[in-house]
Parts: sequence; C-alpha cells; structure tokens
Amino acid sequence: MSVLPCILGLDVSTTASKAVCINSEGAVLAQASNEHQLSSPYPLWSEQDPENWWYAMCKSIRSVLLSVDVKAVRAIGLTGQMHGLVLLDSHGKVLRPAMLWNDGRAGKQCEMIRERVGLKHLVATTGNDAFTGFTAPKLLWVHDHEPECYEKIAQVLLPKDYIRWKLSGTYATDRAGAGGTLLLDFSTRTWAVDLLRDLEIPEAWLPPTHEGTEATGIVDRTGALETGLLEGIPVYAGGGDQAAQAVGVGAIHPDTWAVTLGTSGVVFAPSKDPRTEPLGRAHAFPHAIPETWHMMGVMLSAAGSFQWYRDTLASQISFEQLLEEAAEVEPGSEGLFFSPYLSGERTPHADPLVRGSFIGLTSRHTRGHLTRAVLEGVAYGLRDNLQLLHDAGLPAPERIRISGGGAKSTLWRQILSDIMRHPLSVVEVTEGAAMGAALLAGTGVGIWDSVQAACDSTISVHEQSFPGDAERVYADLHEQFKELYPRLKGFYSA
Ligand code: XUL
Repeated sequence: MSVLPCILGLDVSTTASKAVCINSEGAVLAQASNEHQLSSPYPLWSEQDPENWWYAMCKSIRSVLLSVDVKAVRAIGLTGQMHGLVLLDSHGKVLRPAMLWNDGRAGKQCEMIRERVGLKHLVATTGNDAFTGFTAPKLLWVHDHEPECYEKIAQVLLPKDYIRWKLSGTYATDRAGAGGTLLLDFSTRTWAVDLLRDLEIPEAWLPPTHEGTEATGIVDRTGALETGLLEGIPVYAGGGDQAAQAVGVGAIHPDTWAVTLGTSGVVFAPSKDPRTEPLGRAHAFPHAIPETWHMMGVMLSAAGSFQWYRDTLASQISFEQLLEEAAEVEPGSEGLFFSPYLSGERTPHADPLVRGSFIGLTSRHTRGHLTRAVLEGVAYGLRDNLQLLHDAGLPAPERIRISGGGAKSTLWRQILSDIMRHPLSVVEVTEGAAMGAALLAGTGVGIWDSVQAACDSTISVHEQSFPGDAERVYADLHEQFKELYPRLKGFYSA
C-alpha cells in the first residue's frame, strides 16, 4: 500500500463517478469508476439524480482507498460534466433531478435571453450565445414550468460542486465551470451582476468562484464518514471537465490545442486573453488556470454516436471487430454519410432539433460502410469545429493532442488526422479530466510550483498520426458534408 504523498482527482462524468489517485510523477496508483444512469423521460430531456452521483463517488473513493493509504492523500481536486443544473433548497436538499449539458428543452428560454439581453451584449459579457444545455436557460425553464420548485431554490450548483458540497459542506465553484452557466462575466471572471439583474436571478443563489488551483474547503466530518477519507484534507476548485481534461493533456498555452473524443467531441484552444467568436457560435470560457482563457467547439454526440450505433445496431459485435470491418472500407464509405446529431447539436450549429441520419444508403453498403460512415461523420463535425476556431481568428496551434475513449482507435485517429488535416498526438492518459483536477489540486497544495511544472512532470506523448493519402479525398467529401446541415435543418425543425 502506497504511503508516499498522493493526490485524488474526482470526476462526476455523464456516465460514471470516477476517482483517480496519482503520485508526483503522475503515475496512477489506483482508480475506480461507478456508473450512474441517465434518464430521458421526454424528448429533449436529459437528467440524473445528484444522489446517485454521490453514492457512486463514495463507492469509487472507497475502492481507491483499498490500495492507497488514506494518510497519504494530500489534496483533492474536482471536475465533472459542465453546465448541469443542480437545485438545492435552504437545507441543502436536492429539489429536482439535475438537468444535464445535453438537455435540449430550454430553446424558448434561450430566445428569451437573447431578446432581453441582446446577442451582442450577451456574447461580449459571457463569451457565448445562449445554448440550450447551458445552466441559465434551464434555470429559466424551471421558472416557467415548475414555479413551485423555483420558489424553493436557495442554491444553484454544477454537478462537481454538488460533490464538493457533500464532501466539504462548502458551496463553491471553479471559474472555468462557472463560465458554462452563461451567468459569468468571462473577462473579469466574476458573476455578471447586470445580467443576473436582467434575468431576475438572485446572485445569492450562486456559489463563490475560485481559480482551479485555489482551495475551497476541507473534507468535513460527514464527508469523511461517507467516503473513508480523513477529515481536514483540502479540497481544491479544479475545473469543468473540458478545462480539466485540457490540463490533463497539457493544453494550457495557445500553442497546444486539445481534441477530446468522449461522449461529446471537443476542440479546445487556450488563449492568453478573453476572445470570442463574434456571433457566439463557439464557446469562450476562463481556463482552469489564472489569467488564461479558452475557446472551444463542442459536438454533443461524438464517441457517443459510435456507442449508440454499436448498442443499437450491432450489440453482439465488439468495438474491435466493428473497427476492423470499417478499416476494410475505402475512405468515403462509398458515398454514405452520417450526420452525427443524435442529441441535436451545439457548435457550429446551435440547434437542439437537428437529428442524426445515414444519408446515401444503397444495397451495396455493408456494416463496415455504416461503421466507417459514423467515424467519418464525427470527424467531419470536429473538422467543422476546428474551422470555427480558426475563423474566430485564433492563431494555428503548433500541436494538437487527442484523448478520450474514441482516441484509443488507430483507425479513428487516422481518419481524424486526414479529415482535420493536422497531425494528432496521443497522450496516454487514464481519465484525463480527473488527472487534470489532480494536477490543479497538487499545484495548489504545493507538490508542483505551477500547473506548467505539473504538466511537465506528468504528461508524455505516446504516438502520433499524420494526415495521409486520404486527406485530399476527404477534403472534397467534407465540402459535401457541409451541405447536409443547411439542407436537413428545415426538414427536422418541421
Ligand atoms: C462542454 C460540454 C460537455 C460536458 C460533458 O461544454 O457540454 O463536454 O461537459 O462532458
């Protein structure tokens, strides 16, 4: 059992609550993950019970502590799915299921926010347009549809901050995550008081904000009893999962961008100043590091599309076999396209009503073609997001690092390099977001002098894929893919 100092990173993701314990070299000493269910009782709804997160997190922490001496744990860093709306009453009790980042019900409230605040002012203040999955529109949906619940609200939290509350009895959040509420002034990194007033949301409902490396409290007696941790271990702010993931792969300067191929698909670009895409079509948030910001494009269903495809159409077949079959198919899948909009889309097409589709099916197509079309469709979507960030005026990166479950596939990485027209380096990182949260906490507690030093001592690049012969074919096909959204838009909204 390890007794050398170690740090615990906790990630409340969409699929599971995870605990990862690392040492000062970044070696993973122990990790555990316990799943929680997602419920979609009506079209566009996406919800989870915060109590399930806590239950699953306690189990994960307890199993990590079977192989790590609890006295060695110096600090805890938190991360988790962004934008989720957790509502508590004045006793700290959960008022309704949490509404998640991929919940699409608040379309009308987004329009209302734009009308009340003005798109230009909204983007200048928050860095973003109003997107359905963001926290503020969902809060206003509760106001409009569940007034009896709205009246009882005393605290609004993000998913990871619900874990923080249970662990330390403290209400607090990180500034990267706070950016995703649409209620933060992203330049000053403080709550946007004018906007709160315009939307009639009391500031008292929102927790204090902190930089990722700041302590927000300590594990309290109840938190210790429930998790097996020791009372008094400092808990650090950490970051929303995308910012934490970026730290976990070393994307902390403008020269290094990150692509994450998880349930969602993300292209993440750090910047040294608060920049926006003028129409708010890309996200702009504080990074988890002081005086650093980032822009990002987010697809709602990336590796999530492949997961859905396999679960629904090929549940008896392993991912490996599906990928082998897809590798036999020529780039372009013989004219078959997949539009990866299974949960609607966020960027560059902010549209909760657009849907996924296979387009161009013929009787010649085999399962291999369908699989390859899914991989390619997601890659075109990421290419669209890369383009969006370039068009927003960000200087091109020197390198792009890729991580997430989907990045484990050599075939998918090659397709991505070909379609994104950029070399991609794979960072061998287990649970990148939890790792990033641990690096932020470790820096806070003084194990490393800076987040840069933390990344330098722990991250190594394992493999690279380079654009190959298919790049040209895909450049033409991407032009055709770009035609799909404008053509499908009206069909789906009707
Ligand atoms: C980021 C986003 C997702 C969630 C889920 O804006 O919505 O990446 O954080 O992980």
